[in-house]
This record gives sequence, C-alpha cells and structure tokens, in this order.
Amino acid sequence: MWGIFFEDINMAADGGLYAELVKNRSFEFNTPLMGWKEHSDMPGSGTILVINRAQETPANPRYIRVSHYSDAAFGLSNEGFRGMGVREGETYHFSVWDRGGAMKLRVELIGPGGVNLGRAWLRLGTVTSSQGAVASGPSPGAGADAEGSAPDVFAHGGWRQDTVSFVATATEAHAQLYIWFEGQGTVDMDMVSLFPQHTWKERPGGLRADLVQLLADMKPGFIRFPGGCIVEGRDLVSRYQWKKTVGHVEDRQLIVNRWNTEFAHRLTPDYYQSFGLGFFEYFRLAEDIGAEPLPILNCGMACQFNTAEVVPVGDLDPYIQDALDLIEFANGDVNTKWGALRGAMGHPAPFHLKLLGVGNEQWGPQYIERYTLFARAIHQRYPDIKLVNSVGPEPDDARFRFLNDTLRKLHADILDEHYYRAPDWFLQNARRYDHYDRKGPGIFAGEYAAQSDKVATPNNKNNWRCALAEAAYMTGLERNADVVRMASYAPLFAHAEGWQWTPDLIWFDNLRSYGTPDYYVQKLYSTNRGSVVVPALLNGESIAGQDSLYASAVTDREGRELILKIVNTSSGPQTRNVSVKGIRGLAREAGLTVLKSDHPADMNSLSDPRAIYPVTSIVPTTGDNIRLQLQPYSFSVIRVSLVR
Ligand code: AHR
Repeated sequence: MWGIFFEDINMAADGGLYAELVKNRSFEFNTPLMGWKEHSDMPGSGTILVINRAQETPANPRYIRVSHYSDAAFGLSNEGFRGMGVREGETYHFSVWDRGGAMKLRVELIGPGGVNLGRAWLRLGTVTSSQGAVASGPSPGAGADAEGSAPDVFAHGGWRQDTVSFVATATEAHAQLYIWFEGQGTVDMDMVSLFPQHTWKERPGGLRADLVQLLADMKPGFIRFPGGCIVEGRDLVSRYQWKKTVGHVEDRQLIVNRWNTEFAHRLTPDYYQSFGLGFFEYFRLAEDIGAEPLPILNCGMACQFNTAEVVPVGDLDPYIQDALDLIEFANGDVNTKWGALRGAMGHPAPFHLKLLGVGNEQWGPQYIERYTLFARAIHQRYPDIKLVNSVGPEPDDARFRFLNDTLRKLHADILDEHYYRAPDWFLQNARRYDHYDRKGPGIFAGEYAAQSDKVATPNNKNNWRCALAEAAYMTGLERNADVVRMASYAPLFAHAEGWQWTPDLIWFDNLRSYGTPDYYVQKLYSTNRGSVVVPALLNGESIAGQDSLYASAVTDREGRELILKIVNTSSGPQTRNVSVKGIRGLAREAGLTVLKSDHPADMNSLSDPRAIYPVTSIVPTTGDNIRLQLQPYSFSVIRVSLVR
C-alpha cells in the first residue's frame, strides 16, 4: 500500500539519482557546449568544433572535434550539476568515446579557488596511467552495461572508448572537471563521463547510493515512475517515450526536461533528460528495493496545463503498442523481441510487472476515448495487468466528478487521485474514504503533499505542520485500506540548488541528503504496515479529529501483533488509555516510536537533517491496557504483541 512516486523534477535523475557527474556529456543540449568552457593559455592554441551527424545517428547526433595546434595549454572544463560532489579517498572513473589522434589528456578535478583534487593522464587509444593511482579496470563509465555489443552510435567510424580512474584527494561539493590536451593533433570526442566508483550496489555507471538507501529504508510497496507531468510532456514531441530510454546509454536520445522553464520563478535552462536513468534502471531499482514497479505511460495526450495536444484517436496505435511492448519488455520471455533486450541488458529474469498507468493528470472526454482503447487492447492481451487511471489533477472538481463517474461505470481497475492542499484540508478530509464504494475501483492516492503555501510556489516548506497533517490524514487511508490500495507522497526528490517545485520528500545537494519530516511520516507507515485493519475507536467512533486525535490500527495476518498509529494535532499533551478488546492480554511491554516537534514551523535541513526524527522507547502494559502520554504535535506508533 505505501509506496513512492518518482518523477524527474528538481534534478531528481540527472544531477540526482543518476550518479553521472558530467552535465551535457554528449553535447546534445540545445546549446551544444552548455556546461562546458574552453581554456587556453594563448589565443588560437586550439579549437572546438561541434559536428552534427543527425542523418547518420539521430539518437546521438553531436560530437566535438578538438584540435590543438601549439605547446600552449588548451583544454575544456565541465561544471557538473551545480558543481560535482567528490569525496576524499574515493575513486572516480573518467571515460570518453574518441577517435583520431593519439593525443594525451590530463584529466583533473578542480575545486573552487583552483585547488587540485586529483588527476590522471590518459593517452587515447592506449593503456592509461594515473596519479593517486588505481589500476585501470574494464570500462566503468557511462558506456558500461551488459549488452556485449558496441552502441549503435559508435559501431562504425573507428570510435573507441578510453578510460582512466583516479582518487580524489579532498572532499568538495562544487568541483569541476578539467580536460587538458597535451601534444598537438586533432581528436573527436563524445560521451565524456565521470562516475564515482561507489554507487548503489557498486554498479558501474550506476545510481547515487545515499539516495537509493533513503528509498530502500522506506521499504516501499511500489515505485511509480517516471512521473508526473514528465510522462505527458509540454507537447507530444517532448513526451516520455520508454523505448528511447533503454539499450546502450550512448544510443538513448536526450530531450529537454519539461520542467526546465515551467516556472518563471525557478528557471532551470540546463535541465535535460539524458535517460542514463531509463526504464531498465527503474525496473531494476524497483527490484532492488523490493517494490512493485508501476510505470506510467503517455496515453496520446500532452500536459493539459501546457499545450494540451492530443494525438487523433485514429493514430493512437503506436502509443498502445508502446504499452504492450513495455509489458513484454518487463515480463516477456527472452525469446520475445523486447524480453530479449531486457536479457541483453543483463536481466533475463522477468520483472513481474502487474500494474501500468495510462496517462497522468488527464481529464475530459478526450481521456476517456483514449483510455478505453488502451484498456481494451491491454486487457485483451494481458488480462492480469491492472491499469491505473487518471481522475484529473484535483480531488473534488468537475473534472474529477466526470472522470470518477465515468471510469466507475467503465469498471476501471484503479483510480489515481491527486491532492496538493493546505494542511487543514488533510485534517478535514481524514474521513474521505469512509464512504467510498467498497465494490468499486481501487484508489491510488498517487500524488499528495500538504502545502504550507499556495501550490507550486517557492515558499512552500516541508515543515512539521504539513507532515503532521499528512500523518493524520494517512490514518484515514489506512483505515480504508480495502478501498485505498496504494498511496505515495509527491514529488520525491529535490536538489537544494536545482529545484523547481517544493515541498518534496527528500532533499539533497552534491554530497548530502536528508529526509524531511514528511519522509519520516511515510517511513513510519511503510515500515509499520499490517495485513488486517482493525477498528480504532473513541466512544464507539473511528478517530478522525475528535479531541484533535487521529488513529488507525492494523494487525499482522495471524493477529499476533497490533500496530496502532495515533496523531495528536493539539498543542497540549493528552493522556489516553488504549484498551485492546477481543484478546486474552498484551505482552508486558509495547514499543513506542514518536515523531514530534514542539513548533509546527520546524523543519529538517542539510545542516540539521535529524531535527525531527523518530525516537523509540518501551512502555509498560497492564492486562489489555496501554497508558499513553501523547505529546503535543506528535505522531506515535505503538507495536505490541497480542496474547490470544
Ligand atoms: O508532483 C509534481 C507535479 O504535480 C506532477 O508532475 C503532476 O502530476 C502534478 O501536477
């Protein structure tokens, strides 16, 4: 039930989860040298020519031709994603696809003020040497994968991949990569990459370990990817197309990230999608952290907040085929076309996909028309796949009512409700699902977050007031777990120096990361889930706001342990007796975990990541009774063994 929503917003993928340190590594940004700078001791000592071979290799058209004509120093630097985070003693792998002159490169990490943080020399086309030395191993950089064959883009024309590794001599959040050309000559270069050796599961070209660890620690039930509006695109051309995100990273076609200029107050013109983190990596991430994969696909509609373009219904087939092929990619035998690609990428076993989203925040009859065609084709071929459907961007407007009524009549599987609302809305709506039709579609509370300010404004904060309101509201999700099948906070990640949207569950910079109070609320639910909902009552009624209290209770399948969640939203302490009925007794002690803060405006931060953090203790029980001191503004989780 409790899962995570990943979207490539706020530099969550490139510059975030995807551990590549070089921005615009393939020179495919609209401004081909964005993020790069030329350096020379003497004007005219060298030139950079950007060559576009779009006819030949449309997925990765550009490369640079570097010519160095003199003994004067000539080089290039890359600024990374708001700098590059490097750590003292860690190994970094530099790689480049190149052809032509046997030039020697000096590769350096440079910190602010010009301090050298480690360097290596690489003679292109030969064995490499490095200072701060580590042995050069097999190609570890951007091009490393299990496919065995050369990427299409470099299969012809004399390209080779050269690599060198070195150790950083100091820790720095804003390093830059410098590449100096030693010796005269001309060389072509593409896919210039720098990765830390240390990644999640130490995979070459992999994911940032601290960020994945935060996700794994949540033990999420599912992971939805890749968004969000990113699926829709501002227009159909910039929609997310999963087939362009699999195979060799060199062959994945970069596109602009739709969030780069979405908000005038947070312009991010250097935000693109390299798709180094693509659908294969998402599926593998899901598997790694024990979460069901939930991909969402474009349904032939671009974002209705932007262009609202739709593909004519008669031209929808390729979109539907993408969905069918995705199921084959995830689950198909390696003898099928798409299953074979998954196998070649190193995962012959299926990913066991069971859920698929059709469209993100779509609305109107145009969605129903397109959804119906998707549903028919997918259910016919894959009757076991459950579809997640949009009911629009709001939980209670005319768009919602139309889709909710229509999709229920169409016997849709799962309805994806979104709410970005004030904390009070969450408190007032804790009973939202108490009266939903128990026999209707399941509900996916797919995107929600309490907003301390107006939605999509920069002053929104991940403060305790918001997190506490979410904790209170989630008692209502848990109480109605027969209807609410899944729930996820949104968005998931934000780079502290590169975000567009706030609030977000996890914040990070180039070296550090932390969970917000909202993160700990989510984590307390997902790591304290049960199998059976049992009534939590006050004066015979479910607890959803009486005396500022909210509560829900679950047991494991066998009924051996009770897990009780209680939120006290009042500014004063409350002493309560919890009396557990229908059992012989309780274990003598119960475990109590409390998440709290004295001031609703309190927050966690990069410098104080655990200001609000769960604290665990033991409380005694008597017979069937637990006496609890509920602290002001607190979320408490009580776990106790039951004697039957
Ligand atoms: O989570 C941020 C955005 O909010 C999502 O992309 C979209 O689905 C919603 O409007």
